[in-house]
Amino acid sequence: MTENEVKAILSGVKYPNFERDIVSYDFVKNIEIKGDQIAIDLEIAASSQEIADELRANIAKAFSDKGHKNVVLNLKQPQAPKETSSRGKNLAPSIKRFVMISSGKGGVGKSTTAVNLAIATAMQGKRVGVLDADIYGPNVPRMMGLENEKLKSIGDRVTPLEAYGVKVMSMGVILEPAQALIWRGPMIIKTIEQFFGDVAWGELDVLFMDMPPGTGDAQLSLAQSVPVSAGAIVTTPQTVALDDAKRGLDMFVKMRIPIAGIVENMSGFICPCCNKEYDIFGKGSAEALAREYKTQTLGEIPIEEGIREGGDNGKPIVFHQPNSETAKRYLLAADRLWSFIENNQGDNADIQPTNH
Ligand SMILES: Nc1ncnc2c1ncn2[C@@H]1O[C@H](COP(=O)(O)OP(=O)(O)OP(=O)(O)O)[C@@H](O)[C@H]1O
Ligand SMILES: [Mg+2]
Repeated sequence: MTENEVKAILSGVKYPNFERDIVSYDFVKNIEIKGDQIAIDLEIAASSQEIADELRANIAKAFSDKGHKNVVLNLKQPQAPKETSSRGKNLAPSIKRFVMISSGKGGVGKSTTAVNLAIATAMQGKRVGVLDADIYGPNVPRMMGLENEKLKSIGDRVTPLEAYGVKVMSMGVILEPAQALIWRGPMIIKTIEQFFGDVAWGELDVLFMDMPPGTGDAQLSLAQSVPVSAGAIVTTPQTVALDDAKRGLDMFVKMRIPIAGIVENMSGFICPCCNKEYDIFGKGSAEALAREYKTQTLGEIPIEEGIREGGDNGKPIVFHQPNSETAKRYLLAADRLWSFIENNQGDNADIQPTNH
């Protein structure tokens, strides 16, 4: 056999779950032929054992189909990341569960959702905290009416603020501006670790983490610092927004954060005059996405003046108008989220991120 013949056979082996073959991905690093023995060095980017096993089996089959049994495969893969996802380390051991509220793009209502879900969960008797992890645009304190509160400390630790039965802390408030500047640099993990050590949260059943938009360093660093038990994606129903939502969901899959569901925000409009619900952006489109990612729609939250007003004035709708349709939907979403957290033992290992 020649090297080219070996390459031709390898070109017929697809990388598991992808359309392209392992040669075109440049995973084949070396081929050595000695008599009838073929030695192949393969280096892949995935740390997954399943992918390695599947590749081994497929390569062995491709060669044995052509009558070659004597193939030695030296497969190199990176070490599995130790500290990501729900089984990772916990820098804040007094907090039992962590929920990441994320979105592919900005302005879709993450902070509004995080605040109202947190209060709804507290209204159901849980010990709840909200972490505003958006250091560039921290607005959770304002949404909860805490923007003028001063932080207090006990010893060298900062006590979280509190409103509506929820403990609140904002990274943007506690971190020095200079730290914010190095946020994207190599100091990021250290900064987050320090942050968790600096805050006296006390015992909490759940901490909601309101993330900056997108899928960047903050998400990754948090997922490596605390065991994230659930991720929820906030999106608006327009198709363009759904593409962004996919990116957020893929991020959860890659970080092995269990996906609790999708909140479709600004889904329909409830008229304040007649209480009739109007479909503006096309309601219900998150449902197909939820099915694709084997998850659920946690709630469809309408566009409502009271939501924006509540946000601007620090009077969250779920607390101040608990009988409104919107408040009921937040309460239901919080319920669904809580059941997911209680019941979910698995992870997303069987979902493949789509390629963007
Ligand atoms: N369902 C809704 N009805 C009416 N207004 C809403 C609704 N959801 C959010 N808003 C308003 O839209 C604006 C953006 O919401 P919010 O700040 O929660 O988004 P975000 O995703 O956190 O944004 P960013 O990406 O900048 O952090 C706010 O003024 C908020 O009050
Ligand atoms: Mg926000």
